[in-house]
Amino acid sequence: MYNLAQETPADWWEVEALYDLCFAPGREALSSYRLRDNVGPVAALCRVARDADGTLAAAIRFWPVRVGAATALLLGPIAVHPTRQGEGLGGLLMGDSLARAHDIGWHRVLLVGDAPYYRRFGFERLEGVTMPPPTNPERVLGVGDWTDVTGAVENWRTGGHAGNPGLENPAPAPDLC
Ligand SMILES: CC(C)(COP(=O)(O)OP(=O)(O)OC[C@H]1O[C@@H](n2cnc3c(N)ncnc32)[C@H](O)[C@@H]1OP(=O)(O)O)[C@@H](O)C(=O)NCCC(=O)NCCS
Repeated sequence: MYNLAQETPADWWEVEALYDLCFAPGREALSSYRLRDNVGPVAALCRVARDADGTLAAAIRFWPVRVGAATALLLGPIAVHPTRQGEGLGGLLMGDSLARAHDIGWHRVLLVGDAPYYRRFGFERLEGVTMPPPTNPERVLGVGDWTDVTGAVENWRTGGHAGNPGLENPAPAPDLC
C-alpha cells in the first residue's frame, strides 16, 4: 500500500538520493539536464510514493520545455527503489501524473527512455523533435498532441522563443517551485 503525494521542498534531497541510487553516476551531466538548468520543475506534477512506514519508494518529476513555438512537458526523472521495482509502482506514478498533467492543461509530454517500457503509456517515437545532443533519437518519445510540433527541445527560460509574443500558449503558466 503506497501513499502518493506531491513532492515538498522537504522531500527534495531524499528524492535526489533515490535518483542517485537508481541511475548511473554523473546523471546530471546528461544533455537532458541542460533543459532543467535554472528552471524549476512543475510542482503539481512532482510526486512521491511512500509506503505505510513513510519510506520513499518512488518519485517522478516534470519540467516545462519549449519545442519550436510550442510548449511541452519533459517527463523525468522517474525512479522506483530497486527493492520495489516490478510491483507496478512505476506504472502507478506514470498514470497518476500523466492524468494530472492533462487535467491542468498540459497536453504534450516527452521523455528520453526505453520505448518497450513507455509504449504501454501511449508514448511513441517523436519524428522531427530533437533533444540536445548527444541523445539517441530512437529514445525520444512523446504522448499527446504532437501534430505539427517539430524542432529542437529547448530550455523553458533560455529557449529561442522565450518571450516571443507569438508563442503558442495552450497551457497555464507552469507552477514553478
Ligand atoms: C523504469 C522503472 C521506473 C519502472 O518502474 P517499475 O515500478 O519497476 O515498473 P512497473 O512495475 O510499473 O512495470 C514493470 C514492467 O515494466 C518492465 N520494465 C521495467 N523497466 C523496463 C525497461 N527499461 N524497458 C522495458 N521494460 C521495462 C518490466 O519488465 C515489467 O514488465 P511486465 O509488466 O511485462 O512484467 C524502474 O524500473 C526504475 O526506477 N528503473 C531505474 C531508473 C530508470 O531506469 N528510470 C527510467 C529512466 S528511462
